[in-house]
Amino acid sequence: MRSAKDFFRPLAVGAPAPVREVPFRPSRMIHFFDPGNEKMAAKVPSLAPQVDVLLGNLEDAVQADRKEAARAGLVAIAKATDFGGTQLWTRVNSLDSPWALDDLLTLVTEIGDKLDVIMVPKVEGAEDIHYVDRLLAQLEAKAGITRPILVHAILETATGVANVEEIAGASPRMQGLSLGPADLAASRRMKTTRVGGGHPGYLVRQDPTAEDAPRATYQQDLWHYTIARMVDACAAHGILPYYGPFGDIKDVVACEDQFRNAFLLGCVGAWSLHPVQIAIAKRVFSPAPEDVAWARRVIAAMGDGTGAVMIDGKMQDDATYKQCQVVSDLADALAA
Ligand code: GLV
Ligand code: MG
Repeated sequence: MRSAKDFFRPLAVGAPAPVREVPFRPSRMIHFFDPGNEKMAAKVPSLAPQVDVLLGNLEDAVQADRKEAARAGLVAIAKATDFGGTQLWTRVNSLDSPWALDDLLTLVTEIGDKLDVIMVPKVEGAEDIHYVDRLLAQLEAKAGITRPILVHAILETATGVANVEEIAGASPRMQGLSLGPADLAASRRMKTTRVGGGHPGYLVRQDPTAEDAPRATYQQDLWHYTIARMVDACAAHGILPYYGPFGDIKDVVACEDQFRNAFLLGCVGAWSLHPVQIAIAKRVFSPAPEDVAWARRVIAAMGDGTGAVMIDGKMQDDATYKQCQVVSDLADALAA
């Protein structure tokens, strides 16, 4: 069997040298479509050039009696479409469902040469990834596919979060992790009914003052802990972290806020569930020109990257140099 080093070369993005890193390909928005929906499927060729990743979804949001149609639709679309530089991903059904095995068998056999990444939902531990990894190796060998299909796990159960590090490092096929806030909320028995984003009830209140003035409240981020854990696990294993879905399509402002929090914490992209979210993800997950200009100024001033300099009254040293390299390298990689 091929070893990990045959699959991966170092990635240009990110200053600190990791154990290994997945090759960088832009994936700022993973755009979901239902391949069994004829209207949506017809739009795929025109959508492809607008997004970094197109994902044919077979799991949740596809009704049980339409699973076969969605799978067949994805095969037909993949065979008929030239995706150019856009990646094609799929989200298969969960491994405890009656459809997952047929999803993997059919998709790898029929369109394995076109599939870049298989997203596996409700991953609970390394054993789920090992199962998919072994199956993919067999199916790829049988179909004569020489480019390994990568695996992306959704972090959306409490057990999955508890095992996030072993999941991230479970196979050299691991491409990344996404936060799945809707299923995770249910798994944790959180008292929310939303797909991602904030909640007005999750807040802290300013201490009482002597004047008995109205006390300000500050809404807190329900997802901070999980995103931070996921980002650390991904960074430690050289794979990529993503925020998942934001379900309130009309609330483009809150969507942008959620995406930006994830970007600032280290995520490289998010899911887009509606065309309106494509531009938001593109804007948020591409470093702002002024941040890139600042990063390049610091890099230029820091010479070999060691020591300290003052720029506009701000101290820069080896650590800020590395932060600036992350921003500058990401801009270079996206422009390539
Ligand atoms: C995504 O699959 C989620 O459950 O949020
Ligand atoms: Mg889910």
